[in-house]
Amino acid sequence: MFTSKFPEMGTTIFSEMSQLANTVGAVNLSQGFPDYSPDPILFECVAQAMKSGYNQYAPMPGMPALRNAVAEKYTQVFLKQHGNSTDVIPPNADTEITITPGGTVALYTAIATVVKPGDEVIIFSPAYDSYGPAVIANGGVPVYAHLLFPNYMPDWDEVHALTTSRTVLIIINTPHNPTGTVWDAAQYTALEEYCNKHNVNVLSDEVYELITFDGVRHISVLSIPGLRHRAFVVTSFGKTFHITGWKIGVCIAPSHLTAEFRKVHQFLTFSVNTPMQVGLANYMLNAETYLGLSEFFQRKRDYFRGLIGSTRFTVLPCKGTYFQLLGYANVSDETDVNFAKRLTTEHGVAAIPLSPFIPGNVSQPVLRFCFAKENSTLELAAEKLARV
Ligand SMILES: Cc1ncc(COP(=O)(O)O)c(C=O)c1O
Repeated sequence: MFTSKFPEMGTTIFSEMSQLANTVGAVNLSQGFPDYSPDPILFECVAQAMKSGYNQYAPMPGMPALRNAVAEKYTQVFLKQHGNSTDVIPPNADTEITITPGGTVALYTAIATVVKPGDEVIIFSPAYDSYGPAVIANGGVPVYAHLLFPNYMPDWDEVHALTTSRTVLIIINTPHNPTGTVWDAAQYTALEEYCNKHNVNVLSDEVYELITFDGVRHISVLSIPGLRHRAFVVTSFGKTFHITGWKIGVCIAPSHLTAEFRKVHQFLTFSVNTPMQVGLANYMLNAETYLGLSEFFQRKRDYFRGLIGSTRFTVLPCKGTYFQLLGYANVSDETDVNFAKRLTTEHGVAAIPLSPFIPGNVSQPVLRFCFAKENSTLELAAEKLARV
């Protein structure tokens, strides 16, 4: 008889809601993936890489061309934001960048690199749902700090109070899934003070780094010298190039942490598929392929928010990511999970409740909707929501 190592771990709410949406044929705004095609030029780049013979194992840290493209991206983004690139120190492609099979595996590998049995890790909740289980799988203890409705910003006094001599890591995520908030400079100052005081490392989940709105800028931990030396930064090509199914991501960390990260990576992953790495590297030679992402998604966000005007749902702020929170207090007093399920089965629109992202499953009257969809999909969803 096999005894489960993780008796309390269930199926993720993403799988559950997507499955329900498929079963009842609902418009699926639950899981965060686009329903439109990525750029065909990217397909050509990958096909060309295969035809050119890039079909065997890639080097363990990733194809050099792709690591160089990732480093160059930081210069290009900084140039776009500030008009000059003199102040940015891009990560070193050889010693600081590792290509991983997706952001989730990069997160897991970083956690496995740092966390020893009994170590504690601060996680802000609601949180992307892989963090806690990854800590537990490595013998660690997730310690949850609250991001409270409706502003969802950290209470740093709480974070300090939750910290003990066993705390080794704090996981941050901005732009934030599921709430769409983006940290400003003051939050990083508080984080830096916190890390210095308690000597804690940082795992910064920046997979939505290129999706911010209304002139708000994403600040990477890499741009903060007082944090960069103790941080792992995770990004994902899936989010940037509308290819979530390709599962390719990145971990960036200073060389001494990258050396440790690669000790785990070499036996967990070893190497990531070669033609996609080469294809992505060639595609990224044109920086326009990623620099316009905020504008692209701001149009979608604004379109979706406009459509919601004809419903009884309320629109919460959204400064980044491709998720919009909608309040349903005017519509129902059910828990978010019950309402999300009924919205899917009775009204034909699937969304994600937030309580599964919160320890204790505390329910607030909000659901998360993904607007990385064709306008026609958003229109169909809004029509259905208007009838609720
Ligand atoms: C906050 C956050 N981190 C990480 C990931 C995972 O990225 P990937 O699909 O590259 O594993 C996601 C995907 O939804 C996410 O929302």
